[in-house]
Amino acid sequence: MKERPIVPESEILRQREFMKLVRAMDRRPQSYHIVSMGCQMNERDSESIAGMLEEMGMVRARAREDADLILYNTCCVRENAENKALGNVIWLKELKKDKPDLMICVGGCMTQEKGMAAMMKKNYPFIDLVYGTHNLYRLPEYVWRVLTEKRPVVEVMDIDGEVVEGLPEARASKFMAFVNIMYGCDNFCTYCIVPHVRGRERSRTPEAILEECVRLQDQGVREIMLLGQNVNSYRGGGAEFADLLYRVDRLGIPRIRFMTSHPKDLSDELIHAFGELRHLMPQLHLPVQAGNDEVLKRMNRRYTRAHYLDLVKRLRSVCPDIGLTSDIIVGFPGETLEQFEDTMSLVREVRFDAAYTFIYSPRKGTRAAEFPDDTPYAVKSERIQRLIELQQAIALEALEAQVGKTEQVLVEAVSTRDAASVGGKTPRGHMVNFPGDISLIGQFVDVEITSAGRNTLRGRRIEQ
Ligand code: SAH
Ligand code: SF4
Ligand code: F3S
Repeated sequence: MKERPIVPESEILRQREFMKLVRAMDRRPQSYHIVSMGCQMNERDSESIAGMLEEMGMVRARAREDADLILYNTCCVRENAENKALGNVIWLKELKKDKPDLMICVGGCMTQEKGMAAMMKKNYPFIDLVYGTHNLYRLPEYVWRVLTEKRPVVEVMDIDGEVVEGLPEARASKFMAFVNIMYGCDNFCTYCIVPHVRGRERSRTPEAILEECVRLQDQGVREIMLLGQNVNSYRGGGAEFADLLYRVDRLGIPRIRFMTSHPKDLSDELIHAFGELRHLMPQLHLPVQAGNDEVLKRMNRRYTRAHYLDLVKRLRSVCPDIGLTSDIIVGFPGETLEQFEDTMSLVREVRFDAAYTFIYSPRKGTRAAEFPDDTPYAVKSERIQRLIELQQAIALEALEAQVGKTEQVLVEAVSTRDAASVGGKTPRGHMVNFPGDISLIGQFVDVEITSAGRNTLRGRRIEQ
C-alpha cells in the first residue's frame, strides 16, 4: 500500500473558519439529524459530520421531522441499500413543501458512484447538497455556500483518496468507540463496489491512531473497534497491523476488537495475537463469502476453502473460545446447486456464532456484473432460506453452550424489550440481557448466563 497524502492542516483550519462563519449567520439551520446507512465506516464518518455540524452551532434534533438540516450518509453495497436511500430522499421532498428552509444533504458511498451525482442533480433538484466520500471534510464550506449562494451545491471529487486528520467529532457512545486505522480497499473482489467508491488503500500513521486511542481512554472509553475495509493491509509508517495491535494493547484499554479481516492475508502474527494480547477480545469477523473454490476464484477472493478452514483451525488452537462471525453471498453469478452445497457444508464445519447472509446484487462497474447469471431469483431465495435456517440452528447451539458460564459484560443500554433490564456484550460478542438499571451503563458487570434465546442470552448479575 502506498503512502497517501494527508489533507494539509491549513485546509482543515480553513474548514474551521467556515464552521465559524456558518455559526455566526442569523438564518442558518439550528438543528440536525443524520441518517447513517451501511457499515461502521459510515457510522464513524457520521460522528465527524455531527462534530462539524455542532461546531457550526447546530444541535442534534430529537426526530428527523424536527430538524432544520437532514443529512443522509448513504451506502451502495447492494441495490436495496441504494433504493432505500433514494426512497428516503424522495420522502423529504414532501417534508420540504411544508418546511421550505429545510436543508437536505446527501453524501457517502452512493453519491460517489459514477454518474450518480449528475443523476441526482437532474432528478432531485430539491437536494441542497450532494458530496462524496473524498470531500466529507469540506462539508462546512459547502453548507456555507448553500446558505449564501441559495442554490444547490453538487461536489464529488474523483481522486484516489487522502487521509484526513483533525476533524471535530461528536461520538455516539461515551465508552465504546470506532477508530479508523485505514481507508479504502485495493482488493477488487469482483462483486464489490467498495473499492470504486472508497478509493485506494491508505493508512493513518501509528502515532495518529495511538494518540486518538489515548485521548478516548482518557475520556473513559472502555472498548475500541479498530476499523478498516481490510485491516490486514494496514501499513502505517512501515508498521503492519499486528505491530499496531500490540502497541494499542499496551495502552491498557480493557477491550479491543477490529474489523474487517481478509482471510487471504490474515498473518501468523495476528493469529498469535489472539493467544497473547490481554485486551484483544476473543472474537473475529472473517468473511468467507463462499465455500467453493471455483466460486471463490471468480469472486477474486484469492484463498481456497482449505486455506480458510486451516485459518479457523489455527485460530481455535491459540484461542479455543474464539467466536467467529462471517459474511456469505448466495447466488453469485453461475453458482450451481453443488457449489452452494459447499457453502452449506463449510458453515456446518466452521460453526459461526453469526453469519450475515446476502443474495448477490449486481453493482454497475464491477466485474461480476458482466458475468452470465442464469440462476432464477426464486432459486437464490430458496438457497438463502436454507442457509439462514442452518445458521440460526448453529447460532442457537452456540448460545446454549454459554448457559451456566459467568461472563464479564460491558453494559451498553437499557433493553429494548424490558425496561427493567440492561444489555451488553460478553468478550466473545454475545449479547446478554439481565435485570439492572441505567446506572450500570458503561460498567463491567459479572453475569451468570441463565438461558439462551434466539439471538441473545439472559442472565443474572453476580453481586461482588
Ligand atoms: N471489507 C469487507 C466487507 C465490506 S462489504 C470484507 O472484505 O469483508 C460487507 C459485505 O457485503 C461483504 O462481506 C459481502 O458479503 C457483502 N457484499 C458486498 N458486495 C455485495 C454484492 N454485490 N452483493 C451481495 N453482497 C455483497
Ligand atoms: Fe469489497 Fe473485497 Fe474490498 Fe471487502 S475486500 S471491501 S468485499 S473489495
Ligand atoms: Fe456501504 Fe460504503 Fe460501507 S458502500 S458497506 S457504507 S463502505
